[in-house]
Amino acid sequence: MGVVLASLQLCLAVVTAGLPVTANCVPPPPPVLPIPSAAQLAWQRREVIIFFHFGMNTFTDSELGTGGEDPSLFAPAALNASQWMDAAAAAGASLAILVAKHHDGFCLWPSAYTAHSVRASPWRDGAGDVVREFTVAAHARGVDAGLYLSPWDRHEKRYGREVAYNEYYLAQLHELLAGYGSMSEIWFDGHKEENATNMTYHFDEWFQTVRQLQSSIVMFSDAGPDVRWVGNEDGFVGTTCWSTINRSMITIGQTGLEGYLNKGDPRGTDWVPPECDVTIRPGWFWHRNETAKPLRQLLEIYYTSVGRNCVLLLNVPPNATGLVEDADIARLREFRTAITGIFGTDLAEGSTATANSKRGGGFAAGNVLDGSHETYWAPTADVGRRNRYWIELRLPSANSTAGVPVRPFNVVRIQEHVALGQRVERHEVYVDGVAVASGMTVGYKRLHRLAAPVTGRTVKIWFTARRGPPLVSAVGLHLDPYATKRASICTLCRTEV
Ligand SMILES: *[C@@H]1O[C@H](CO)[C@@H](O)[C@H](O)[C@H]1NC(C)=O
Ligand SMILES: *[C@@H]1O[C@H](CO)[C@@H](O)[C@H](O)[C@H]1NC(C)=O
Ligand SMILES: *[C@@H]1O[C@H](CO)[C@@H](O)[C@H](O)[C@H]1NC(C)=O
Ligand SMILES: *[C@@H]1O[C@H](CO)[C@@H](O)[C@H](O)[C@H]1NC(C)=O
Ligand SMILES: *[C@@H]1O[C@H](CO)[C@@H](O)[C@H](O)[C@H]1NC(C)=O
Ligand SMILES: *[C@@H]1O[C@H](CO)[C@@H](O)[C@H](O)[C@H]1NC(C)=O
Ligand SMILES: *[C@@H]1O[C@H](CO)[C@@H](O)[C@H](O)[C@H]1NC(C)=O
Repeated sequence: MGVVLASLQLCLAVVTAGLPVTANCVPPPPPVLPIPSAAQLAWQRREVIIFFHFGMNTFTDSELGTGGEDPSLFAPAALNASQWMDAAAAAGASLAILVAKHHDGFCLWPSAYTAHSVRASPWRDGAGDVVREFTVAAHARGVDAGLYLSPWDRHEKRYGREVAYNEYYLAQLHELLAGYGSMSEIWFDGHKEENATNMTYHFDEWFQTVRQLQSSIVMFSDAGPDVRWVGNEDGFVGTTCWSTINRSMITIGQTGLEGYLNKGDPRGTDWVPPECDVTIRPGWFWHRNETAKPLRQLLEIYYTSVGRNCVLLLNVPPNATGLVEDADIARLREFRTAITGIFGTDLAEGSTATANSKRGGGFAAGNVLDGSHETYWAPTADVGRRNRYWIELRLPSANSTAGVPVRPFNVVRIQEHVALGQRVERHEVYVDGVAVASGMTVGYKRLHRLAAPVTGRTVKIWFTARRGPPLVSAVGLHLDPYATKRASICTLCRTEV
């Protein structure tokens, strides 16, 4: 591994130094299309994103405003967006998304196109701008910012008049995406009540406008174009989860597609990975009578979202004072501490890796142990019909004589190098020859929780079906001490394939 990695580094050093290339570098394998954009890759690596639902509903104890609320109700006594970032930091999130306008149409920034905004409220004597305070606080903290702008608008009189409302919505997109610095994600929520006024949204105009104003943003909707809804709001994706779908099969806001969105499509022609949105409390908005989910439930959500090739978008609603509750921040801190506790130590460290197929060059099996997204094990291209690939770790304990304790693990982490496409269709995990886990897709990250902690000399992963040779960037082994405390919380999402 050392020699091979050194030769890769030599290749890279020669290339970056602009020297004549004489080294015999093995080129990377070709991609299996579709592949992610740079913005989609960066988004995937965030793993956890924070969502802030805050607005008129916070003051009316509601989840869905009518649009008829009096702006004078919006009166947070001590709004402090820097304090909201304490929540993002506690969760270890690099991106926070604010609901700038929910279905009730009340705008958290002083939009020039409506009177129904913070400008008409008593907050900061009508001179306040929550979007401004939010983006400034985020950027000051090194947290990227994103926004949610509801298409369904129960206040705006133009809603239902196709051209007029689309113009209104586009004007607001311009205000938000040209006036507040860099934005990393925008949310287009397709939801509306079935009996709501009919309205045709000009999504293509919206999407192209967004791309023009913010070139590295990712756009969320049922159908992307960059990130898709996962089909539920409970924080889980299917045990089989493809980052690919056919966008042409999805109509934004249409029900009945939840299964397709949840699993993705192995033959999908578009790279549109899922985002699992879920709220830390029962409601999306703050209610005095509600509290945060317990740690064990948040961990369950982590395994069924991040652990299945999804990004977790966790909502933490600021309260009517304009602050995230201390108890919620404490829960987020517990959550991050637990994640770090489980995944901060890789029990595969010090292992040696071998595989039944080697591309050569800088693509050795040992790359799965180096902690880098950029390096990966690549086998040779398909050679014959029975070409089932495997990679094996020999754990450091393999050389120890009886009596030397070996470190037990109960989580196996596998990561594909998805920059070149999602490939694995079926895989099996063995410890000392005994099957301990199996599944279909892997994707950016797959976490297998074992029934109980195990020890062993070897961990072998078979890739028994795939679209092209598997490219594996990481294999890790971890001990989750919380596992035994986890009750059967998630009945829907437990079944392994
Ligand atoms: C706002 O929150 C930040 C971060 O918690 C804190 O440092 C600051 O003192 C707060 N500002 C006020 C006015 O309370
Ligand atoms: C919206 O339009 C559809 C199709 O034209 C129609 O079936 C439906 O009743 C309309 N809904 C409302 C609330 O007007
Ligand atoms: C629209 O439907 C919702 C349930 O989806 C119902 O609560 C509401 O009363 C209906 N509104 C009207 C105006 O019919
Ligand atoms: C998605 O599109 C591909 C390419 O056209 C096609 O082969 C596949 O069957 C489609 N998926 C579904 C579920 O129809
Ligand atoms: C809390 O109050 C809200 C609004 O009154 C209500 O909709 C919600 O169901 C309540 N939540 C719980 C957990 O009782
Ligand atoms: C909002 O949360 C802050 C921080 O925990 C707390 O001091 C304040 O009392 C809360 N406001 C309400 C209305 O509960
Ligand atoms: C086991 O010992 C051999 C011989 O000393 C050595 O080559 C090998 O790297 C060791 N394996 C591990 C996993 O430490």
